[in-house]
Amino acid sequence: MNQPDPQQRYAHVTGWGRYVPSQVLTNHDLERMVDTNDEWIVARTGIRERRVAAAHETTASMAAVASLRAIRTAGLEPDDIDLILLATLTPDYWMPSTAALVKEAIGNTKAAAMDVAAACSGFVYAYASAQAYITSGMARHVLVIGAELLTRFLDYTDRSTCILFGDGAGAVVLSASDERGGGLGIEMTTDPQGAYMIWLPAGGAKAPPSAGTIARGEHYIRMEGKETYRFATKTMATTALESVRRSGLDPSDIALFIPHQANIRIVEAVAKGLDLPMERMFVNLDKYGNTSAASVPIALAEAVNEGRVQVGDNVVLVAFGAGFTSGAVTIQWTTDPARGIAGDAAVSPHDVTVRLPVDWDSVDPIPDALAAIMAQPGTVDVPLDDVVPGEPEPAHREVHA
Ligand code: UT7
Repeated sequence: MNQPDPQQRYAHVTGWGRYVPSQVLTNHDLERMVDTNDEWIVARTGIRERRVAAAHETTASMAAVASLRAIRTAGLEPDDIDLILLATLTPDYWMPSTAALVKEAIGNTKAAAMDVAAACSGFVYAYASAQAYITSGMARHVLVIGAELLTRFLDYTDRSTCILFGDGAGAVVLSASDERGGGLGIEMTTDPQGAYMIWLPAGGAKAPPSAGTIARGEHYIRMEGKETYRFATKTMATTALESVRRSGLDPSDIALFIPHQANIRIVEAVAKGLDLPMERMFVNLDKYGNTSAASVPIALAEAVNEGRVQVGDNVVLVAFGAGFTSGAVTIQWTTDPARGIAGDAAVSPHDVTVRLPVDWDSVDPIPDALAAIMAQPGTVDVPLDDVVPGEPEPAHREVHA
């Protein structure tokens, strides 16, 4: 990597890509696992379905596909990347970093690689770090990834958490430029009062994994939903506003907000807090649920590929999560949005492999309750309408054998 130098630089988004597993888990599927129903989940969260990684997929493999798509979109080669930052709370292993696995899988031989741990705010935190590396002159092209495999860390007897989360990955390439644009104002907060509001108790130094921690289900995500909801609705709009203000802009100057996709009611609260209509909020949580650090980059890639972002537009990424953390970055978009679709098409998941260790085979990674549901035929094919208020209800559902 380069040494810092004081010359004025900007960090533009030149590439973006996403990957979600093909296996769909609907609300109706969850009805067969816990005491819940589609109406409750849609009304309280807006989520209709989420994706589940197959047994051969990992956080690194999903991240690698999204990353290569972002690199192709940018018109770069993997070795043009000189720093890889990967945000996740579900790394493949405690060590090495998942970023190191992704570096090898994408065929990069030059970059420094590390993970960023800030839960659902992780991608925005990693993005902010990448911008700092670029504007200081220490890096020229940074790959920023958000990737999660949450369905392996959920308690499928706890209806208050297992309905919320899904799997996937998104990535962007940030590139140095002298031209004004790209990431402008950044805001990040951390409130340790929220430390035990969303947490995964066992597996770390305080509670190393043991038969006892497993018997108590301490290897699953726990959450105080109401407290988290209160934090999110209080914080998201103010964090976004601070980032916009630091960019010398007003919320009315923002073409599109890309909020963390946790709950439609939280997104509605952000719109209300900013005094903007829901049309300015991008929503895809109906299709994927909450994918934690992956949610913002997946949403950004979809928003751009769907034509919701044009060159010259101001876009705000804003997230909140365990910690409690929150973060926002305002971006002036400078790259032809049409590049993303070609970048996606250039990379097939079948062509990407993450090297496995020699002489070691993991146990089947899919939780039993999930594997049982996945083995049954008849997954419901739900039309993927948005859940933005005022939009038509999804059409009649057909069950495929
Ligand atoms: O990335 C950050 C991750 N976290 C979040 O974003 C979560 C933020 N919090 C939330 O989104 C909401 O608090 C939830 C969606 C988790 C819950 O919604 P809520 O409106 O706060 O519901 P609640 O916890 O107040 O529960 C209301 C009722 C309870 O029953 P009683 O006590 O009123 O009889 C729950 O037991 O709903 C019950 N309930 C459910 N019912 C059907 C909780 N989960 C379910 C469920 N299906 N899945």
